[in-house]
Amino acid sequence: MNDQQKMENIVSLAKRRGFIYPGSDVYGGLSGTWDFGPLGVTLKRNIMQLWWKMFVEERDDMYGVDAAILMNQKVWQASGHVATFTDPLVEDEVTHLRYRADHLLKDAGYSVDGLSLADMTKLIRDNNVKSPAGNDLSDVRTFNMMFKTTVGPVEDESSVSYLRPETAQGIFTNYKNVLDSFYPDLPFGLAQQGKAFRNEISPRDFIFRSREFEQMEIEYFVDPTKWEESFEHWRKQVWAWTTALGLPTESVHELEVPENDRAHYSKRTIDFEFDFPIGREELLGLAYRTDFDLGNIQRESGKNMEYTIKGTNNKFVPHVIEPSFGVERAVMAVLSSAYTEDEVNGEKRIFLKLPEHLAPVKLAVSPLLKNKPELVEKARAIYADLKKKYGAVMWDDNGNIGKRYRRQDEIGTPKCIVVDFTTLEDGTVTVRDRDTTEQKRVQPSEL
Ligand code: GAP
Repeated sequence: MNDQQKMENIVSLAKRRGFIYPGSDVYGGLSGTWDFGPLGVTLKRNIMQLWWKMFVEERDDMYGVDAAILMNQKVWQASGHVATFTDPLVEDEVTHLRYRADHLLKDAGYSVDGLSLADMTKLIRDNNVKSPAGNDLSDVRTFNMMFKTTVGPVEDESSVSYLRPETAQGIFTNYKNVLDSFYPDLPFGLAQQGKAFRNEISPRDFIFRSREFEQMEIEYFVDPTKWEESFEHWRKQVWAWTTALGLPTESVHELEVPENDRAHYSKRTIDFEFDFPIGREELLGLAYRTDFDLGNIQRESGKNMEYTIKGTNNKFVPHVIEPSFGVERAVMAVLSSAYTEDEVNGEKRIFLKLPEHLAPVKLAVSPLLKNKPELVEKARAIYADLKKKYGAVMWDDNGNIGKRYRRQDEIGTPKCIVVDFTTLEDGTVTVRDRDTTEQKRVQPSEL
């Protein structure tokens, strides 16, 4: 199975088994949007809850927030997003379809690192690079990726707002509120999870690049003289996160982003890349945002953003280390590293080797035969008991036992429990392991 086939198999499994469906599918879809089905939403939540537990609940220097998605337009002017949150766009001169210039050039085998718009246009002209339809391309220009909207019944310049392109700004605008409510010691962080929206020129590669997605972001406020220490701390925390997701260490790579390619606010960025089936691509980012954001807020709002070290007159605007995690990319990395094909009794088998703590269904319970009331009754009682204890337990009596195992393997259920005639005699049930397919008999109390 090559990488392209693997990707196609994952997309097809995700739809077939209720993980991820194309957005607005019934109306022919809406490009760049995806809907999470019953199993997908549980997998996604398991990932988000794991993050919240690791980075908020288990630390005493972190505060959670959940800010409004719609924010005052001044936020996006001050942050630089109105002026600079752009991607390079080119247009097919015949079809008028639009593409990301850097993607087209990369696909054509050119390096675009650090190239300006004029450089990209020159590269296209010098090498006669064409659109995917084989037509001439326009000059490269910028395209702002924020979705613009208006708030309230009057549509004029003063009512303009944007769907947030990053959750970070909802954190920065609450820095002062949290400071005043909790008087935290420095360094401390604010964490937020939630939707972000980007009008990507060419959304692609399944949920990797979509127009609506979720982020999990931390803004960690530090003494400017100690930013390097905190940067190293978060670098290690990011590795702990990829391990907690069960991603193989050898598939995760650090990329020190060169100055030309860094976001407008960053003095240092490390992209953590993952070997996705679509290639080695960014999973998440770690950036040193300096006092760029709090400095802008202080200037534009006229409110003081300084932190005073307790018991001293030492005041400064804190600097910020920002680990920024994409939820969909985490889901895609987990699915790609879990997707496995093997052979059982001469037949091809597909299974998701999901870490137990992320699997949407932890246990499936079945009666061996669904037309034997005594087996069904016993199985139902065991199921009810396990469901009360563990929640994520599925009742499965569809088809024969082999089919049930295949289905549970495909959704990554670590253990299947079968109630058979021996259960009626000695109370033991069969437990079948997803990865080894080995079966053993145990008392339900040992599960
Ligand atoms: N606040 C910093 C920030 O937003 P970013 O590198 O633009 O930085 C952070 O985005 C993360 O959000 C990325 O590493 C990626 O995981 C995720 N992300 C960004 N754009 C995305 C998109 N169009 N679709 C899915 N995830 C995306």
